[in-house]
Amino acid sequence: MEGAVKIEIIGLGAIPALTAAPAEKEEFGTFVIFAEEELALGKATTRLLGGEGVALIKKAAAAVQFKGKSLTTLDLIAPARLNAERLIVIGTGASKNDAPAEKNGPAKPEDYASLGGFAGGKLSRAGRATIVFDFPEAPIDAARAVADFVAGLRLRAYRFDLYKTKKKNDDEVSSANIRLAVEDPAAVRRAVKQEEAVIGGVLTARSLVNEPANILYPEEFAKRAVALKSHGIEVTVLTNTDMRELGMGAMLGVAQGASRESRIVCMRWRGKHKKDGAAKEKPLAFVGKGVCFDSGGISIKPAAGMEDMKGDMAGAACVMGLLQALAERKAKVDAIGVIGLVENMPGPNAQRPGDIVKSMSGQTIEIINTDAEGRLVLADLLWYVKEKFNPAFIIDLATLTGAILVALGHEHAGLFSNNDELANRLLAAGTATGEKLWRMPLGPAYDKLIDSKFADMKNVGGRHAGSITAAQFLQRFIKDTPWAHLDIAGTGMNSPSTEINQSWGSGFGVRLLDRLIADSYEK
Ligand code: BES
Ligand code: MN
Ligand code: ZN
Repeated sequence: MEGAVKIEIIGLGAIPALTAAPAEKEEFGTFVIFAEEELALGKATTRLLGGEGVALIKKAAAAVQFKGKSLTTLDLIAPARLNAERLIVIGTGASKNDAPAEKNGPAKPEDYASLGGFAGGKLSRAGRATIVFDFPEAPIDAARAVADFVAGLRLRAYRFDLYKTKKKNDDEVSSANIRLAVEDPAAVRRAVKQEEAVIGGVLTARSLVNEPANILYPEEFAKRAVALKSHGIEVTVLTNTDMRELGMGAMLGVAQGASRESRIVCMRWRGKHKKDGAAKEKPLAFVGKGVCFDSGGISIKPAAGMEDMKGDMAGAACVMGLLQALAERKAKVDAIGVIGLVENMPGPNAQRPGDIVKSMSGQTIEIINTDAEGRLVLADLLWYVKEKFNPAFIIDLATLTGAILVALGHEHAGLFSNNDELANRLLAAGTATGEKLWRMPLGPAYDKLIDSKFADMKNVGGRHAGSITAAQFLQRFIKDTPWAHLDIAGTGMNSPSTEINQSWGSGFGVRLLDRLIADSYEK
């Protein structure tokens, strides 16, 4: 299903010159090199091309006015005198030689990922290819840059074609066989191995989001989470009976219209060893909304676009992908992932507008709109996680509100937090990975909007500030635990194609949270 691109890391020195004499001739297949604006080439690239190769490129570039602008290509098919079936020159943009040192080469890590995605797109029918990872200025952290490049390439190659009985023949990235030539292969291999674990997590999340709800209903999702045991993750599953015993009236209210059973799955990766007092450290907790289908319930949604609501479990998918990634790369962290899996359906037993339910926290909730179900699921999950695990922080991810699309579109996920340090770390991880966040406000004036005439609170706040009142609702179940809420309704699914994502389900959040953990919680 997902593109099984083969990537072999080799040293730049291991490739013979492209203009090699016939005796040393080697089949290159497609050959990829990079050029900055004004056609500046790296040293190794220049050596491989030789004077003749450079002259050939200059001539071809002049003919089509290729200048090396970022993410443009010069494509030479069967170039005479060069030992390659095809030579692709990819532009990386303006030379940054005059900029501060950290700006050399493609500026940010996310740019290397995009570059990798772009190259992957060009190689879709290539078969065998050699990529020369070489620029006029070496990136500051070369191993990291190559890892990001590989991530981009692999993420671009992903296809979800499980239910297509006829495959298109332009989907052949999966068979590409790539040699990636780098300066220091040993260091790069280590970084790439770690990154491969993260990519695996992203692809898991994407596939879960892409699956239809008749296949991926709560019990089936739970089954797939239980399979993570083989990665060394502890997994426990709660059923409707357990939820009843725990008094999870908010979650059960959502569940009661569906004929499918609900599940809560707790996953734990213990990668921090108990010696040197680490046992006293609190675990990190990640919570995901897993509404496997959101029809709206009795407050039913309009027909147009309702099929998208199979993706209302993108938060849960991210949490599962993240745990997989952490285990796979043996992250030195104690992390918990808890997902609430449920369907929101109308029916004779469905919850009604006006109903009042009692959450596990004891607080009562008046249901105004049964389509505001995600916050009801999270209310009990957040409380449960806080009480049971006493975590260092809780980060929840949820496709929670259409209003976040109105505010931020598909570019940023909404970030809400009661803790500036956590929020700033998340913002930094967003910039580093290209999974961008935008912080939104919280405050007592917004909180007041969800006070209810009949119960402690109501589940919607009125016409305005819909994403914020949803976050305020969640905060009432968090109290003082450091907490961040990511509203991923605009980024987790149905987001526009990018260089590194052509899939409906994006897997948003896995790379972001993995980076947060790697940068701030594994020291
Ligand atoms: N799952 C939806 C939010 C959503 C909308 C996700 C679009 C992805 C794309 C959520 O459960 C919902 O229905 N929210 C309502 C809340 C309203 C009733 C207060 C909404 O946004 O309209
Ligand atoms: Mn809804
Ligand atoms: Zn929903």
